[in-house]
Amino acid sequence: MEKHKFLLNEGDIPKAWYNIIPDLPVPLPPVIHPATLKPVEPDDLAPLFPMALIQQEVSTERYIEIPEPVREVYKLWRPTPLYRARRLEKALDTPAHIYYKYEGASPPGSHKPNTAVAQAYYNKVEGVKRLTTETGAGQWGSALAFGCNLFGLECKVYMVKISYQQKPYRRILMETWGASVVPSPSPDTNAGRSILEQDPDSLGSLGIAISEAVEDAATREDTKYSLGSVLNHVLLHQTVVGEEALRQMEMAGEFPDVVIGCVGGGSNYAGLAFPFLRERLKRGLNTRFVAVEPTACPSLTKGIYAYDFGDTAETTPLMKMHTLGHKFIPPGIHAGGLRYHGMAPLICALYKGGYIEAVAYPQNAVFQAAVQFARAEGFLPAPETAHAVKAAIDEALKAKEAGEEKVILFNFSGHGHFDLAAYDEYLAGKLVDYEYPEERVKEALKYLPKVP
Ligand SMILES: Cc1ncc(COP(=O)(O)O)c(C=O)c1O
Repeated sequence: MEKHKFLLNEGDIPKAWYNIIPDLPVPLPPVIHPATLKPVEPDDLAPLFPMALIQQEVSTERYIEIPEPVREVYKLWRPTPLYRARRLEKALDTPAHIYYKYEGASPPGSHKPNTAVAQAYYNKVEGVKRLTTETGAGQWGSALAFGCNLFGLECKVYMVKISYQQKPYRRILMETWGASVVPSPSPDTNAGRSILEQDPDSLGSLGIAISEAVEDAATREDTKYSLGSVLNHVLLHQTVVGEEALRQMEMAGEFPDVVIGCVGGGSNYAGLAFPFLRERLKRGLNTRFVAVEPTACPSLTKGIYAYDFGDTAETTPLMKMHTLGHKFIPPGIHAGGLRYHGMAPLICALYKGGYIEAVAYPQNAVFQAAVQFARAEGFLPAPETAHAVKAAIDEALKAKEAGEEKVILFNFSGHGHFDLAAYDEYLAGKLVDYEYPEERVKEALKYLPKVP
């Protein structure tokens, strides 16, 4: 019998997250304080994050236990299914075996609640009353709204203005879960007001929205800040995806030759890839790892590896990462969650060390792949996820050309049910491609902080 999905039971939800730091085959440069240029101390981060998350950020423990109340919430949708894309394989007429881990199964529709629920929990335990955050596509904001609602926290979301305009239904979802949502740049913060003064029509960016959410949290006693990607503890929480997928691939009797995911800040990809990378290093395999980004915002493929701020207004610590410059505002592509100038330091260190490869695609090619996938498999990928779909299809076509039975695994990070306007534009032939904005990146890179 041909199996299409590989399912685990509630009892199989991982009991621990996997922390790759002790197994890293490359050095991870420390996060540094922009004023002192010394590594940041836990106390520097305390106004923004609860201590439990700060400790996870710097932990060298290989496994970190998932608190029982978090596992209880995970049971709403985890373990998520692993699918074998048999119909897509047929449509492509490829000998490759294509698998995808379906993170669209969560209530908000993506991988994001894997960390949102954990972050809301740790904040609640430490007595925090209110969380602020930014959101690009609206996926992260809705995940945090969902998590905060479950643990009785207030939630304020600064939503990148272009997404706020393109995706009113994501806003309504966040409000339904009790969050308050404003378009960013907003008049509610100094950072937002100063951007609006320079450019009243600013479409916003993740970098600007982060500045606003950080400022809000830093200036209120009862409030902390929550980030949906980039940081070590966020990537850590996402490893439930890869740990489950490892077992499911075992059920399928295969191990991937290539592990693919889209990268905005790097969290869904790290979540799937890191447990497989651990196995690759331990067992001496030659599995390839491919991160996929948009040509409009190509941090890995075109950015430089340098210390930079995580946000536009220069309020965060400095992280060593592949960056297009914190002043770079990416074109308004539909994959809002991939419009970030930087990338998780862990992903960058592994990319620099040659353990991860990267490719970049323009959005029309990405939507073409998404539609092909939807017509074969039924599921409609989020525009971010569609980048991974495109790379998986390209790998499967390469395997066809070479006549090789390659095993391809990708992370289906979220569904696109709130992105139908983007599909509509694509189907009407109205979607524009943005070439790599070289001049704007060059300009933005002038503002990199000087770190000796
Ligand atoms: C569905 C989906 N996939 C991927 C991403 C990219 O983020 P990350 O690289 O942190 O997984 C986002 C971000 O909003 C998203 O909504």
